Amino acid sequence: MIDIEDRLTLDERATVDFVLGLRKRWSDTVYPALVEEFAETGTPAESPQLEEVMHGLPSYPWFSHLERVQQKMLWRAAGDAVVGRRDQLVGELDAVPGEGVGSLRLVDGFELPSWYTDYDIHVQPGSFFSDDMSAYVYEFGARIVMLRDNDGYKFHGLFAQTTLPDKPDATRVVDMGCGFGKSTRPLVAKYPTAEVIGVDLAAPGLRLAHAEAEAEGLAITYAQADSRATGLDDASCDVVTGTMTLHEMPSDAIVDTIREGARLLKPGGEMHFLEFMLTGDPLRDATVIEHAERNNEPFFRALFSTDTIAACEEAGLVDVQWRAFDERQLGVQPDGWGERREWHFPWAVLSARKAV
Ligand SMILES: C[S@@+](CC[C@H](N)C(=O)[O-])C[C@H]1O[C@@H](n2cnc3c(N)ncnc32)[C@H](O)[C@@H]1O
Repeated sequence: MIDIEDRLTLDERATVDFVLGLRKRWSDTVYPALVEEFAETGTPAESPQLEEVMHGLPSYPWFSHLERVQQKMLWRAAGDAVVGRRDQLVGELDAVPGEGVGSLRLVDGFELPSWYTDYDIHVQPGSFFSDDMSAYVYEFGARIVMLRDNDGYKFHGLFAQTTLPDKPDATRVVDMGCGFGKSTRPLVAKYPTAEVIGVDLAAPGLRLAHAEAEAEGLAITYAQADSRATGLDDASCDVVTGTMTLHEMPSDAIVDTIREGARLLKPGGEMHFLEFMLTGDPLRDATVIEHAERNNEPFFRALFSTDTIAACEEAGLVDVQWRAFDERQLGVQPDGWGERREWHFPWAVLSARKAV
């Protein structure tokens, strides 16, 4: 498979490095300055005026403006690099048969929900779904969004290895909202006995996911389906998982996805979603919510305000819990994220089990 990053011109490389540097300084320098200035005001963390005070801090215009601007610069850099190589990349996708070691199941005329198509998620022009190149752009851009810390899909591997349960006899596992497959591929090694299925709404991501799995010789079925209604059989899965997908749906779709996951699980099967959750630090959490707004993520708030624990329990799941997930350490952290100076995504895992 072509990795765009191996083919960048020096100019393109310099632009990408500049955006990465800007994003790092925004996280490790501008955010801590904002926190320090806030502390100097003496405003209690629980103050109802917290946001007003934060908006008046000297670093705030830098913090907020850089956050949005570097995100736009990032998509411009990734978009230019990908679209400039369109013919090659389309050729690469077209050359992969739908049936190989694994398979690709796209649905003609598949209807996307309007809450999904109404906005450009992450400020990515055209979002995930509008063009075959959008998955390549997302794949490249996401490396920078994660500050290159997720290169080699370290977080996804860590999640699969340390959070997902061992199921030596598993027959089927499903990855809801699999995107271009970086969350699905680690499932093959984790569950060697199982049929591995990735479902997503967006055809471009599924096409790229399938091409990358075939290139690695991984037997994965990628199917175009809504995680609210996958069409898979009741009680047919040992594990239902998903990474960074619930926060991209409105509240009723989150609840429906949880219900669908519960329907798919065998008794004793487990559901684990790697997501984001509020940290309990009011200033940090205010910036997380604003991050969602500046980053065109309209449903972060929906995830934070949905009673996901109750939704799991109502769907017949037990042992339901949210736990912090620290990508720098060994994944799930029962005692929270600990002290972190820099701005970081508040990774967290929603886990539950189907009662036997
Ligand atoms: C941020 S991406 C994450 C992709 C992948 N799990 C990863 O970690 O890279 C969110 C994905 O969820 C998909 N998605 C959102 N709502 C969905 C739904 N109702 N059913 C299936 N996929 C959905 C989007 O198309 C997108 O590919």
